[in-house]
Amino acid sequence: MTPLRITELSVDGFRNLRDVKLLPSPGGNVLLGDNGHGKTSILEAIDYAASLRSFRGATRTQLIGHEAKAAQVLLRVAGPDPAREYRLRLGRTTREITLDGKRPERAVEYFAGAACVVFHPGDLDLVRGPPELRRRLLDRILVRAVDGYGEALKSYGKALRARNVLLRERHPDTRAIQAFDFPLARYGSALVRARSVLAHDLVPAARRALDEVALSPDAIELRYQPRASGDQVVFTAALAENLSRDLARRSTALGPHADDLAITWSGLPARIVASQGQTRALALALRLAELHVLEARTRAIPVLLLDDVSSELDRERTARLFKLVAALGAQVFVTTTDPAIAALLPGARRFTVTDGAVGPGDG
Ligand SMILES: Nc1ncnc2c1ncn2[C@@H]1O[C@H](COP(=O)(O)OP(=O)(O)O)[C@@H](O)[C@H]1O
Ligand SMILES: [Mg+2]
Repeated sequence: MTPLRITELSVDGFRNLRDVKLLPSPGGNVLLGDNGHGKTSILEAIDYAASLRSFRGATRTQLIGHEAKAAQVLLRVAGPDPAREYRLRLGRTTREITLDGKRPERAVEYFAGAACVVFHPGDLDLVRGPPELRRRLLDRILVRAVDGYGEALKSYGKALRARNVLLRERHPDTRAIQAFDFPLARYGSALVRARSVLAHDLVPAARRALDEVALSPDAIELRYQPRASGDQVVFTAALAENLSRDLARRSTALGPHADDLAITWSGLPARIVASQGQTRALALALRLAELHVLEARTRAIPVLLLDDVSSELDRERTARLFKLVAALGAQVFVTTTDPAIAALLPGARRFTVTDGAVGPGDG
């Protein structure tokens, strides 16, 4: 399997980053620096160019440097296909994206061509947080793995928002509301079908990954819980049946916007029973499962971005993870404040991050 490799990265005006240019190693890369200097921002810039979303949940304007006119990111990515150039320019009111100098035509092509998997401290919320974060994980994989998924997700969201606006009116117009049942059922059932198929692969991949990160997987259970049918006809009927309830609660109850990927531990929600260490291992396993599934579906190994792992995992697990990553053959970017962590990733290229600028590291 061919790994995706970022061969060149330029970032300017993104958060505190100024005129950053780096030529990463095809294997390991370590970004070393004190807190608040811009390490996470570099990973965020890479992943933003690749997914058009901030893994820290930032809005576009929050990403633009306080003193910059625009945030700009350039990624050159080599992989199974000829090298590609991703360019992103975020202005305060504009967003320009190009793939090889042209506006991308199909979402799946754009997203799959620079697939990254990020593991960051906020990922504990994959286990502890609301279902939305777990749906986002499913969607993140599916926009890269399934042609048309990104478009269906967008169309579904648009129809849902419009229907909910009508449901909130003082005198709701039932017929106008029901006019949205068709697009909701059409796109919504497609999302549920794609998520069901994905869960079928993701669950065993996460179990295997849990094994790899040294945690007994027996008691763990992951289950996709759809909140609507994958059958368009059944979905449509459920919407009709639920109309009076929707009118009462003034929003649409049923649909993939309410799905969850339930994580249980010996039958109880992991969010309640898992220890801090188990929660971390679980979150990491979900990210490794994301990587395995993307690898199988896109025929390329995604780039792995590990933010501050040593603060999340103990030394032994960090070393184990790095060994695993090396065996996978993925290109990896690791951020850390601890030079000793760099030593756990033999042969890695080091960069130092100081006050928004990047220089060569020693060693
Ligand atoms: N839009 C922005 N413009 C300028 N600076 C920002 C912006 N957003 C965040 N920062 C600053 O960027 C710095 C780098 O943050 P971060 O990448 O999280 O650092 P690190 O991961 O090295 O600890 C922080 O000091 C933060 O206050
Ligand atoms: Mg950081």
